[in-house]
Amino acid sequence: MRPVSPVRPLIPSPDGLSIEVIDQTLLPHQSHVVKLSTRDEVAHAIHSMIVRGAPLIGASAAWGLVFALRDHASNQALEESCAILNATRPTAINLAWALKRMRDHLLPLPPSDRFEAAQREARAICEEDESQNYAIGQHGLAILQALYKQKQRPLRVLTHCNAGALATVGWGTALAPLYLAQLAGVPFKVWVDETRPRNQGALTAWELHRAGIQHTYIADNAGGHLMQHGLVDCVIVGADRVSAQGDVCNKIGTYLKALAAKEAGIPFYAAVPSPTLDWTIQDALKEIPIEERNADEVTWVQGLTKEGKLESVRVTPVGVESGNAAFDVTPARLITGILTEQGLFAATLSGLQSLQQQLTLSQESTEKHHPV
Ligand code: MRU
Repeated sequence: MRPVSPVRPLIPSPDGLSIEVIDQTLLPHQSHVVKLSTRDEVAHAIHSMIVRGAPLIGASAAWGLVFALRDHASNQALEESCAILNATRPTAINLAWALKRMRDHLLPLPPSDRFEAAQREARAICEEDESQNYAIGQHGLAILQALYKQKQRPLRVLTHCNAGALATVGWGTALAPLYLAQLAGVPFKVWVDETRPRNQGALTAWELHRAGIQHTYIADNAGGHLMQHGLVDCVIVGADRVSAQGDVCNKIGTYLKALAAKEAGIPFYAAVPSPTLDWTIQDALKEIPIEERNADEVTWVQGLTKEGKLESVRVTPVGVESGNAAFDVTPARLITGILTEQGLFAATLSGLQSLQQQLTLSQESTEKHHPV
C-alpha cells in the first residue's frame, strides 16, 4: 500500500463544495489553512501564489471550475470561467492542461449534469497527480540507489525552488525521490537553493525539516562552487513546462545550475509528471511565455523580525529599477534525463516520443480495465 504524502496542500471537502489549501505566502513562518469555495477565490489564490507550483495550480484551477459550475453551468459560463482561471498565471502548462481536460469532459454533457461531473473529474485530477508523483518517486529512488551503490557514501543532492509536496497535491516531483529514499534508508543530504526572489527554497527547507531529512539552505550563487568542489552528486529539479524536444522551463536560476552541473559532469534530472509536457512547443525559448512578476518581489524581502513578527523590508534604495522574470528555459542538451511517472526518458525528441507511446499504451490499458 502507498504511504501517505508528507504534506497535502489541497484537500477537497467531502461534499466537494470547497477546498482547503495551505497559504504558501505565509510559509515557512506561519502555517495557515484557507478555505476556498468560489471560482474567484481560487483565481485569486493562484494569482497571488497562496497556491503555487505547476501541478497544484492545475488541480486548484479544476476546483475553481467546479465552484463556477455550481452557480452557472451554461456553455458560455463554462468557457468564461475557463478563460478567467487560465489567465491567472502564464507559464505552468498544468493550468491550461487541467482546464482543457475539465472543459473537454464537461462540454458534451447537459448543463444539469455538469457540476457533479466536474466534482468527479477534479477529484480524479487530484488523485492522479498524487499517484503520478509517487511513481516519479519510485523511479527516482532507483536512480539514487544506483548512485549510492556507486559512491558508497551518503549522497548530496541539490534542488532548486520548491518542487515538493507543497507544489503538488501530494509527494512533489523533485522531492518525491528524496522522500522515498528516506523511507528506503538511502543515506543522503540535500542542498536547498534559496531561490530568490520569493525564496521558495525556504518552502523546501520547511518540508525537509518536517520530514527529518538532512539539508543545508544555501544562497543561489553557491551551487556552482559546491559542484566544482565535488560536493554535489546529482541535481533534481521540477518543471513548469517541458517542450516536445525536452527543453525544461522551470523557476528562474535553473538554467545556471544546469550549466554548472554540465561543466562539472554532474547528472541533472528534471522530475516531470506527464501533464507538464507541452507537446505543442517546438522552440521553448521562443514559444513558452515567461511570467514577468512584480518588481517588488526583488526589491523587498519577507521574513521574521527578531521579535517574531512577519515583516517585509526593502533591500534596495527607493526608486531603483529591477526586473523579475520568474522562469527560464534549460536546453535539453544540459539535461541528463526527464524523470516521469513512466520512468526515465532522454531529453530528446525521440526520447519523449517513446514516453508519448508509453502514455498512450497505459491510457488504453486503463480504459480497457475501467471502461467509462
Ligand atoms: O512560481 P512558482 O513558485 O509557482 O514556481 C514553482 C516552480 O518553478 C516549480 O519548480 C515547478 O512548478 C515544479 S513544481 C512540482
